[in-house]
Amino acid sequence: MISIRFIAADGSEQTLRATPDQSLMKAAVDANITGIEADCGGTLTCATCHVMIGAPWAEQLPPPSRDEADMLDFAASPVQPSSRLSCQVLLKPELDGMVVHLPASQH
Ligand code: FES
Repeated sequence: MISIRFIAADGSEQTLRATPDQSLMKAAVDANITGIEADCGGTLTCATCHVMIGAPWAEQLPPPSRDEADMLDFAASPVQPSSRLSCQVLLKPELDGMVVHLPASQH
């Protein structure tokens, strides 16, 4: 199990304990983490799973695909350099302790 800390726009925190080799979105939704809507269920067609990955973990992730980068343009909240769509972030053991910032809104 790995631990992921979510920090909402209002500063409130939620902690997720998840098994690796699943998407960050799926793990978060299954654990009822609030702030990730994931309307499309992970098919990369909604941008409501937008998150900002904290440093230094952002640099450990593979760069976003062209499709992910294009879909991020539809995110409701401003996109940051560390913005990702959480359905495209695969959890790995080395991401234990990762901090994930949630946008103010997904719609
Ligand atoms: S869940 Fe829809 S783009 Fe990620």
